[in-house]
Amino acid sequence: MAKTWTIDSTVALAGGVDMPVLGLGVWQTPAGKETRAAVRTALEAGVRLVDTARIYQNEADVGAAMRESGVPRERVFVTTKLWNSDHGYDRTLRACDQSLARLGLEQLDLYLVHWPAPGRRESWRAMERLLADGKARAIGVSNYTIRHLDELLAHCHIAPAVDQVEFNPFLHQRELLQACRAHRIQLEAYGPLVRGHRMDHPVLVRTATKHGRTPAQVLIRWGIQHELVTIPKSARPERIRENAEVFGFALDAEDMAALDGLDEGYRTSWDPTGAA
Ligand SMILES: NC(=O)c1ccc[n+]([C@@H]2O[C@H](COP(=O)([O-])OP(=O)(O)OC[C@H]3O[C@@H](n4cnc5c(N)ncnc54)[C@H](OP(=O)(O)O)[C@@H]3O)[C@@H](O)[C@H]2O)c1
Repeated sequence: MAKTWTIDSTVALAGGVDMPVLGLGVWQTPAGKETRAAVRTALEAGVRLVDTARIYQNEADVGAAMRESGVPRERVFVTTKLWNSDHGYDRTLRACDQSLARLGLEQLDLYLVHWPAPGRRESWRAMERLLADGKARAIGVSNYTIRHLDELLAHCHIAPAVDQVEFNPFLHQRELLQACRAHRIQLEAYGPLVRGHRMDHPVLVRTATKHGRTPAQVLIRWGIQHELVTIPKSARPERIRENAEVFGFALDAEDMAALDGLDEGYRTSWDPTGAA
C-alpha cells in the first residue's frame, strides 16, 4: 500500500536523526525582513525544516525568525553549510561555530559540506568531530556526485547522512539516487521547482489540472513520493503556503511514470560533475 505522507512526515537518517520531508530553502531570499518573513510564514504553515548556508548570508535572520515564531527549537530542523573558503580541519570547526553564533543556536540539526572543493578530506574529519562534539546532530554533503561519494566513503569513519543535490523530473539522477540508497545516504532535492523554468510543461500542467493542484505542488509531491527530502524556495507568502499544501492529494503510478520520463539532464545550478 502507498505510504501516507503528512506535513509532519520524516525520514530516518543513518545515525538515527529524523528529518522532515518538506523544507523551505532560503537561497537568494534577501537577508533581513524578507528572510524573517519567509521563515515565519513557512513555520506557520507547518513546515519544520529550513535550509540555509553561510554563503546565503541570512543565517542570522533564520535564527531570529525561529525565535519569533514561538515554535519550540526542537520542532524545527535547521540545516546550514560549510562554504568553499572554509575548507580544512581548523577552518571547518571555526566556520561551524560562526554559523551557530549567527543562527543563535547551540546545535545544528544538519551541517553539510556545500561543494566538493579541494581540502574536503580534512574538512570531513572536522565534520566527524563536530558530530562527536554535539555541534551537529547529523553531517552530510552537497553537490557530491557518485565519484565524490565513493572517494569520501573510502576514507571516512562516519558516512554522510545526506547528499543534497539538484534533483527534479527534468534532472532525474537515477544512478545517484540508487548509489545513495545503497549506502543509506538520504538524497535531499534542491531546485525541486526547476527554479520555475518548466512550469508550463504540458505533462506538468496536465497532471496539475487532473488533481486540481498547481505545477509547483506536483513537482514537490513527486519528490516526496520518491522519498526525497524536498526544499522549495519562495520569498512570497502565498507561494510558501502553496508549496506546503502538498499532502491532500497523491500522484498515481501513471502520473509518477509520466513525470519520471521528463529527464533532460537540465541543470539550473552549477554542475559538480567536473569538480576536482
Ligand atoms: N546545495 C546547493 O548547492 C544548493 C543550490 C541551490 C539551491 N539549494 C537549496 O535549495 C533551495 C531550493 O532551490 P532553488 O532556490 O535553487 O530553486 P527552486 O526551489 O526550484 O525554485 C525557486 C524559484 O521558484 C519560484 N517559485 C517558488 N514557488 C513557486 C510556485 N509555487 N509557483 C511558481 N514559482 C515558484 C521562486 O520565486 P519566488 O521566490 O519569487 O516565489 C524562485 O524563483 C534553495 O533555496 C537552497 O536552500 C542548494
